Amino acid sequence: MKLFDSHCHLNDEKYNEDRKELIENLRKQGVKRLVTAGYSIESSKEAIKLSKEYDFIYATIGISPNDVPKTLEDLDKDLNNIKDLYKEGEKIVAVGEIGLDYYWNTENKEIQKEAFKRQIELANNLNLPIQIHTREAIADTLEILKDNKVNRKGIFHCCPFNRELVKEGLKLGFYISFAGPTTFKNSKNAVEIIKMVPDDKMLVETDSPYLSPEPFRGKRNDPSRVQYIIKKIAEVKEKSFEEIEKMVYENANTIFNLK
Ligand code: NI
Repeated sequence: MKLFDSHCHLNDEKYNEDRKELIENLRKQGVKRLVTAGYSIESSKEAIKLSKEYDFIYATIGISPNDVPKTLEDLDKDLNNIKDLYKEGEKIVAVGEIGLDYYWNTENKEIQKEAFKRQIELANNLNLPIQIHTREAIADTLEILKDNKVNRKGIFHCCPFNRELVKEGLKLGFYISFAGPTTFKNSKNAVEIIKMVPDDKMLVETDSPYLSPEPFRGKRNDPSRVQYIIKKIAEVKEKSFEEIEKMVYENANTIFNLK
């Protein structure tokens, strides 16, 4: 197999006990490339560290909507830190995950919006795409993306199965990344959304350690399980596993600008 997990968090503390062993096993399980995403200063540092240790691991750096500070002053500091981190890594392939989350973080919407806009600007300055996290905030997310052009485009990570978001996201030239919920039996729109996304805009991810696909729902996830999402997409698109595997592998290389 030749799997590409376009978004996971091997920097998460849930791997502290067995990270090395797990990563070494991934190669044997067919994982050829993966992107471990930052969401805070510390996790971005850790993502860079992993990308230096393993040739098949790439990193993103950014402050997620659930990790934004409470004041603009602190946001300035954090973003300066992120800028400095960029200089330390060679395999940083995106700014992310960034965006808006009105489900978990209901208090400081204004700071979230500001952090999102400024990190789009940062991505443009660094000539990187963005990885977007959006939850219960679709209208504001789309408004910001329409008003703040992302030169290198981006990815809706763990795409919510929302027609409007996918339709507008595709119009902006963005990629749609499918995660574990794609395989859940109660994900009503999953099939419809898979059918909406053209082949060249489709990505797969695990968002490990979260969101394990069926039949591992509820357990700690790992990047090898991206194969279950490929399997589901192949079923819906009536194509072979190998075709979808190759397609998403190439798409990930395109958006992350990898050879
Ligand atoms: Ni994530």
